[in-house]
Amino acid sequence: MLIRPRRLRRTAAVRDMVRETKVSPDDFIAPLFVAHGRGIKEPIASLPGQFRFSPDTVSEEVKEIHALGIPSVILFGLPDSKDESGSRSWADDGVVQMAIKKIKDKVPSMVVITDVCLCEYTSHGHCGILKGETVDNDETIELLARQAVSHAKAGADMVAPSDMMDGRIGAVRQELDTEGYQDTAVMAYSAKYASGFYGPFRDAADSAPQFGDRSSYQMDPANAREALREIRLDIEEGADIVMVKPALAYLDIIRAARQETLLPLAAYNVSGEYAMVKAAARNGWIDGKRVMLEILTAIRRAGADIILTYFAKEAARELRA
Ligand code: PBG
Repeated sequence: MLIRPRRLRRTAAVRDMVRETKVSPDDFIAPLFVAHGRGIKEPIASLPGQFRFSPDTVSEEVKEIHALGIPSVILFGLPDSKDESGSRSWADDGVVQMAIKKIKDKVPSMVVITDVCLCEYTSHGHCGILKGETVDNDETIELLARQAVSHAKAGADMVAPSDMMDGRIGAVRQELDTEGYQDTAVMAYSAKYASGFYGPFRDAADSAPQFGDRSSYQMDPANAREALREIRLDIEEGADIVMVKPALAYLDIIRAARQETLLPLAAYNVSGEYAMVKAAARNGWIDGKRVMLEILTAIRRAGADIILTYFAKEAARELRA
């Protein structure tokens, strides 16, 4: 007797029945870029299909995202001005703070997450305060905590520190609690690698470092055990959700993280991963939609519960069709 696994691949209905991994729009977090100004919906060249919005236009986009069954957005800010300490990041009238209020006003049930980092707000483009040419850890985490509180105050449901300073999850958690925001959740970019895949994002958010790179704070792509150490630390410090970033070249890390923790696990399908698919599809070299769904499925299969992805709307449309 021949063992015939092909019996379970015979028809679409049988394949549906035995499919191990499902992807759904409610697994997605849609990233959004908000710029200072009014009436803006500006295409981002390096991320085809993505736009920069202003606080007054972003809620229209969020309505569409909501209508597609996507429960959550994560906001990145492009401020009106930058300085050495990134002070526009914790201003009550800052661009992200204004966007949060507009979104919560128009689509109250949308889960609004904010990226907490200084790189979009500092004149030098590094993720913290500089002492000479190095980023000062302990001064930086105080400013990150201040930024997190100002997002919570504006109405964010969740804050997501992406800077990779040591102790920032604890500092953010403590400051949120002290200021009365015990119910604001923290999604930690726990295992965030110093990656070439962030290229298009830095264009979109105008956040490329003016000198050097981020290797003295983000993780070395060669390290896997260290990711688990970072995840453990963030959980001890009070993270509610942990994240691995990027996703596609780090599926082994996602799997290891899944085995490490009972917390919800997020993976960030980053800008370079999106741009590669878009560029190849434009050239007719791959079927973009098919590859998109294959990638999202692979990230879920590796063990992620939640996927931050620029494909959110497009994939939701495909999945509902
Ligand atoms: C901010 C931040 C970055 C990304 C998310 N938050 C850029 C970076 O670390 O340089 C990258 C997201 C993407 O590439 O899609 N620190």
